[in-house]
Amino acid sequence: MHHDVTSESEWEAAIEHVKATYGGLNVLVNNAGIGIGGSIVDMTLGEWQRQQAINLDGVFMGVKHSIPVMRDTEDGGSIINISSVAGIKGAAMLAAYNATKGGVRIFSKGVALECAQNRWPIRVNSVHPGIIATPIWDKINPELQEAGLNTFDLDNMAETAVPTGQLGYPIDIANGVLFLASDESRYMTGTELVIDGGLCA
Ligand SMILES: NC(=O)c1ccc[n+]([C@@H]2O[C@H](COP(=O)([O-])OP(=O)(O)OC[C@H]3O[C@@H](n4cnc5c(N)ncnc54)[C@H](O)[C@@H]3O)[C@@H](O)[C@H]2O)c1
Repeated sequence: MHHDVTSESEWEAAIEHVKATYGGLNVLVNNAGIGIGGSIVDMTLGEWQRQQAINLDGVFMGVKHSIPVMRDTEDGGSIINISSVAGIKGAAMLAAYNATKGGVRIFSKGVALECAQNRWPIRVNSVHPGIIATPIWDKINPELQEAGLNTFDLDNMAETAVPTGQLGYPIDIANGVLFLASDESRYMTGTELVIDGGLCA
C-alpha cells in the first residue's frame, strides 16, 4: 500500500487493511526515515519539523495504532523501531537527525515498559544501524549534492570510521530485524540492537 507515515489516516487505513486481510498484526517495523544534514544555525524550522514528522511522529503513530491490534492477537507482537547510531552518539552537522533518532530510542524503551507493566504481550526494541550502503546518504544535503559538494565516499568513511573497516549492507540490518521479529528474541524488550561494525564500541 502507498503509505505516508506522517498521515494518521493512512496509518489507520494500513492497519485496518492488515486486520481485515490477515486477521491480526504481529510485527511492526518502523523503518521510514530521512536525514537532513547541515549546520543547525542554517536549518529552517520547516526542515526540522519535516524530519521530526517522518522520523518521530511516524513512529509514534505506528506504535499508537498497532498496539490495540497486537494486544488482541493470540501470539502477541514485536515492534521494531529503526533508530541509528546517531540515536546514541551525537554528530556534527546531524544534530536535528540526532534528536529524532535519540527520540526513537528512548520512546521505544518507554513503550516497552508500558506494554510490560500492562502485561500486554508486545515487545518493543530499537535497532541502531551504523554506516549502511543505501540511498539515504545521497539525500542528506541535496543542495550541496547538486553542486557536487556532498558526495559521500561510503567505502572511505567505513575504512576510516568503522573499527572493522567494513561498510554495512541492508541485509545486515534485515537479519537483526528478523531476529527481533521472531520468537528467538522472546525475552528481549526495551533494548537496543546496535549493528555497526563496532562504531559505537
Ligand atoms: N543507511 C544508513 O546508513 C542508516 C544508518 C542508520 C539509520 N538508518 C535508518 O534506516 C532507515 C531506512 O533508511 P535507508 O538507509 O534505507 O534510507 P532510504 O532513503 O533508502 O530509505 C528510506 C525510505 O523511507 C521512505 N520514506 C521517506 N519518507 C516517508 C514517508 N513520509 N512515509 C513513508 N515512507 C517514507 C523512503 O521512500 C525510502 O523508501 C531510516 O529510518 C534511517 O534513518 C539508516
